[in-house]
Amino acid sequence: MRMSTDIGTVGAESPFPAGQVPPSLDEAVATARNLHSALSGVLLGTPRAVTFAVVAALSGNHLLIEDVPGVGKTVLARALATALGVELSRVQGQPDLLPSDVTGVTVFAPDTATWDFRPGPIFGHVVLVDEINRTPPRTQSALLEAMEEQQVSVDGDSWPLPQPHLVIGTQNPIGQLGTYPLVESQLDRFGLSMSIGYPDAEVETRLVLHNGGRYALDTLVPICDPTQWERAINATARTQVVTAVAEYAVSLVRATRTAGTVRLGASPRAAISLIRSAQAYAVLCGRAYVTPQDVQAVAVACLSHRLVAEGGGGDGPALVGRIIAESPVPPT
Ligand SMILES: Nc1ncnc2c1ncn2[C@@H]1O[C@H](COP(=O)(O)OP(=O)(O)OP(=O)(O)O)[C@@H](O)[C@H]1O
Ligand SMILES: [Mg+2]
Repeated sequence: MRMSTDIGTVGAESPFPAGQVPPSLDEAVATARNLHSALSGVLLGTPRAVTFAVVAALSGNHLLIEDVPGVGKTVLARALATALGVELSRVQGQPDLLPSDVTGVTVFAPDTATWDFRPGPIFGHVVLVDEINRTPPRTQSALLEAMEEQQVSVDGDSWPLPQPHLVIGTQNPIGQLGTYPLVESQLDRFGLSMSIGYPDAEVETRLVLHNGGRYALDTLVPICDPTQWERAINATARTQVVTAVAEYAVSLVRATRTAGTVRLGASPRAAISLIRSAQAYAVLCGRAYVTPQDVQAVAVACLSHRLVAEGGGGDGPALVGRIIAESPVPPT
């Protein structure tokens, strides 16, 4: 294991000596790798998407999937929930969806003459919100508020969401008719965004011959339970981030704010989720410390959806790629 001279850490209660593996890291590495291999057996030929799904699960970041129909978004979400030992909770985005359809309602129970809270689908550990941009803004903001605050307030009462809590939002980049595009503050709630993309011809032929990823999904067994999943998240948050690596991540984030064509750059929240994601990537690589290369590996997924170019539109991934290419990398 490579030794570091700097013990500046992120997310640790107490810094541990450089290079030393904290007690539960082995378990977190096993969880990350088992999860990766479980998802790879279902979603075929798209290793990048599988990696980011694992990074989201371990870093506690919500995940936005922007892709066309039929590329395996639902299958990935179902596989993720099954592998993590929880039920997938689902919300279908549509124009008449009310905030209470997502968060839940208080109803009067005549038998007991009490008001009881009936939790909505947001109260799952893994929540898939399909076509999130087809829900009206009021419902979007109820949902995204819950994501940020980890609780739901209904009729004056607050209800904590189960932990861990992972929201997977999907939207189709084609066909904007009848949609309510997420505003910047809402996009910022998603720690990571990605597309899945098409598998190559050989994999697609395998899919056709073996009835897609459905069979693999039906036979998938959990690789952990929510308690182990939470332990993995906590161990991931304790992996070492030396000051030079944190400064590097911050320099990438700050560069997005001054890039010529950008009207809105990435926020400090983005910087935090960049480091959290890099920690998860390091754990997936079996390491107890984060390198600049870990930060680079997740930077496009963490930053590009949060950038707003002058005149709208713009190519976030290309811009973040350019910033990575032009920024000095600290020695490791
Ligand atoms: N890379 C892939 N690996 C495994 N199965 C795949 C892959 N791409 C597509 N499929 C298969 O295609 C079918 C459609 O997948 P799924 O329902 O997950 O698509 P989707 O992206 O959620 O589509 P929609 O946007 O219409 O909801 C499933 O049978 C799934 O197994
Ligand atoms: Mg789907």
